[in-house]
Amino acid sequence: MASEELTQTKLATVPRHVAIIMDGNGRWAKARGLNRIAGHRAGTENLRTIIRASIKFGIKYLTLFAFSTENWSRPKAEVTGLMHILSDVIDRDVQRLHQEGARLVHIGHLDGLPKALQDKVSHAIDLTKENRSITIVLAFNYGGRDEIIYAIKRMLADQVAPEDVDEALVSQYLFTGDIPDPDLVIRTSGEFRTSNFLTWQSVYSEWYFPQVYWPDFDEEELRKALEEYGRRDRRFGGLKES
Ligand code: FPP
Repeated sequence: MASEELTQTKLATVPRHVAIIMDGNGRWAKARGLNRIAGHRAGTENLRTIIRASIKFGIKYLTLFAFSTENWSRPKAEVTGLMHILSDVIDRDVQRLHQEGARLVHIGHLDGLPKALQDKVSHAIDLTKENRSITIVLAFNYGGRDEIIYAIKRMLADQVAPEDVDEALVSQYLFTGDIPDPDLVIRTSGEFRTSNFLTWQSVYSEWYFPQVYWPDFDEEELRKALEEYGRRDRRFGGLKES
């Protein structure tokens, strides 16, 4: 049996939306006597592996937490390094992603980034907007609480009537308005926190916490996560899967 068929056969339940907190780059680098930026570069290489594997496994939405609203408090060199990495990733990978049918979207505050980087991200989003093989949701300058506050402000500015406020409306006002909630959220590196990631959207997600640092989370690790997801019994607060 061809390996592609084997993939399909083994993974009976593929989550539509997988979201990842790519944690552990710094510790991965430290363990090798490298600086933190080298860790983020290794994490970026791994991102390519995981995007390819996600397309292969049939995941339709992949959200990646690359820079949080709290990450501004890191040393300036690290913040600048992460901005450069985003810029390099777009230069190096967007054409290939476009050819593979990937659509890029962004959640968070783009306007907090340097103008040239904003333009680069906007151009990549525009270039790939008709693609549908996978949607890559880049969470960059994103925070879950910040997103909810921003949604409330926009609802007030739109003079939404209190009786019209329900879950569907709030969801529409979030950065993720058109994106389904994540089915599976993965945080690598053995940390067990949600860290302001998809605060509203992840309430019924399955969470998975592998021990490995992000640069070591390879296709096989993703497969293990998907297999574990397939064993979970999702009840959404009810008694059986709806
Ligand atoms: C968390 O590890 C990781 C980040 C804050 C950045 C994630 C960025 C990448 C994987 C590179 C790809 C980036 C883009 C822009 C596409 P950490 O630094 O907190 O690691 P530690 O907990 O071991 O210190």
